[in-house]
Amino acid sequence: MMHDFALTEKYVVIFDLPITFDPAGAERGDPVPYVWNEKHATRVGLLPRAGGEVRWFEVDPVFYSHTLNAYDEGSSVVVDMTTYPAPFYVAGRGCDGPYGAGTASLERWTIDVAHGRVRTRTLDDRPQEFPRVHEALVSRRHRYAYTAAAADMTLAYLTTDGNPPDRAFANALIKHDLLRGTTQVHRLPRDAAAGEAVFVPSEGARAEDDGYAIAYVHNPDRGAADLVILAAQDFTGEPVARVHLPGRVPLGFHGSWIPDA
Ligand SMILES: [Fe+2]
Repeated sequence: MMHDFALTEKYVVIFDLPITFDPAGAERGDPVPYVWNEKHATRVGLLPRAGGEVRWFEVDPVFYSHTLNAYDEGSSVVVDMTTYPAPFYVAGRGCDGPYGAGTASLERWTIDVAHGRVRTRTLDDRPQEFPRVHEALVSRRHRYAYTAAAADMTLAYLTTDGNPPDRAFANALIKHDLLRGTTQVHRLPRDAAAGEAVFVPSEGARAEDDGYAIAYVHNPDRGAADLVILAAQDFTGEPVARVHLPGRVPLGFHGSWIPDA
């Protein structure tokens, strides 16, 4: 099961994970007929964008969920992403991670192309998901990242109707400064459930974080979603705006900002 991939200026980065299609489960009518497959190696592949063969690198078993961004650095490739510890049961109890079932962390893989090695490092081990970067920097080096704090995110993977329960999510958004190794957390009301934060640059922005992080946040008091807009450079401050939408927006979807040109 390949859920996401990454791009650098030179490569398409693809992930071959030990979660494979389960024909018997499909025949039984399992809603998510995929299983953790011990026999399937975990590997990351670099497909040259200019053409050519994929070069594969083996890594320790893991479930790769979402790409933050990737870039070339000398003869290496750096990929930032969220992963779940192995083994990960898509249609079961999630994973056996340090925080219990179903939590992802923010990770960095550095693929040393010359020596055929992959170095992995945890950037932030708090449960979080839906990493996003300034989109103009996709495939190039980034400094900032935005993620949604997560609760039992496995519940989102169990969903087959596209509407994960609120308790899969948490009530905070996180801004990462990956250069300094610091984070800022924007806390939302107690029972709120925050989804993916999309970064929208200010008009004429010069700094990478000059702009807004916008996210759908389920507001249980209204039974509907608020579109919460944070100034990225004042991340822990009061939101710039909370747009009260007339209905619920299902959590867990990815989104993109398209300016009204
Ligand atoms: Fe996704």
